Amino acid sequence: MKNRSLISINDFSREEYFKILDLAAEFEKNPNQNLLNGKIVASLFFEPSTRTRLSFETAIQRLGGNVVGFSEAANSSIAKGESLKDTILTVSQYADLIIMRHPIEGSARYASEVATVPVINAGDGANQHPTQCLLDLYSIHKTQKTLENLNLFLVGDLKYGRTVHSLMMAMSKFNPVFNFVSPESLQMPSEYKKFLDEKKIKYYEHTELNNNINYADIVYVTRVQRERFSDIVEYEKVKNAYILKNEMLKNTKNNMRILHPLPRVNEIDTDVDTNEKAYYFEQAKNGVFTRMAIMALILGLK
Ligand code: CP
Repeated sequence: MKNRSLISINDFSREEYFKILDLAAEFEKNPNQNLLNGKIVASLFFEPSTRTRLSFETAIQRLGGNVVGFSEAANSSIAKGESLKDTILTVSQYADLIIMRHPIEGSARYASEVATVPVINAGDGANQHPTQCLLDLYSIHKTQKTLENLNLFLVGDLKYGRTVHSLMMAMSKFNPVFNFVSPESLQMPSEYKKFLDEKKIKYYEHTELNNNINYADIVYVTRVQRERFSDIVEYEKVKNAYILKNEMLKNTKNNMRILHPLPRVNEIDTDVDTNEKAYYFEQAKNGVFTRMAIMALILGLK
């Protein structure tokens, strides 16, 4: 994995997922290590973020590295008309590794093609969010003790949700059954369903969030993302499509855990937060260990 960019979850193999997960578990046991001493990581966020940016920056600091960057394009020379290519070529002169979030699908792949250092995709539009996916795999493995043969419910915005796109592709390596729950206008795009058909992986589509979740091992809830809609009327029609409430969990399996990449708006009622099946804040914490592992491996320090 040394010197390789991470743009899509498909860039890494199943064996490499486990290498990352095993190293993340080591970092969870012993998070303060000086592996990144003398290294500089650039954190370029052209879109808002709390968890991805701050967990990467926490991971860098826990590993003894330094971070430079910006948290919005308005604070960079992009605001003066500089191209993404020139920005990436310039930052490549300063940093050992670039982490980039950008609203345009394909921008991360493009950045990795022009950069002279590895690039980690921290989310490119509705396309991919591979480091979120790896922390999701870590969270699923930690709570289920396996990634194999699980029944996964993916709920909410499956059309624009980059986290569910990455997770579906990664979990497809582990013989899952998928249940997709979304309004008709936000269904899983056909190219992803074709991918599942070709791999002969079972999936079911639902428009209602009902007792079906009683069979779930993982319920992965996502936000309907206002920022992805060009027509606000269409957003208003679906924004409250699903609200998971505590009372809906009473017949669910003991091992079932609720994940959410966050941020949440109102798709999980706050009365769920104290239920032992709610795992989303621990999931966010797992992001630090997983991102420590990803950076250490890409920089060839482990
Ligand atoms: N999960 C996630 O990507 O959250 P942020 O947008 O806060 O980084």
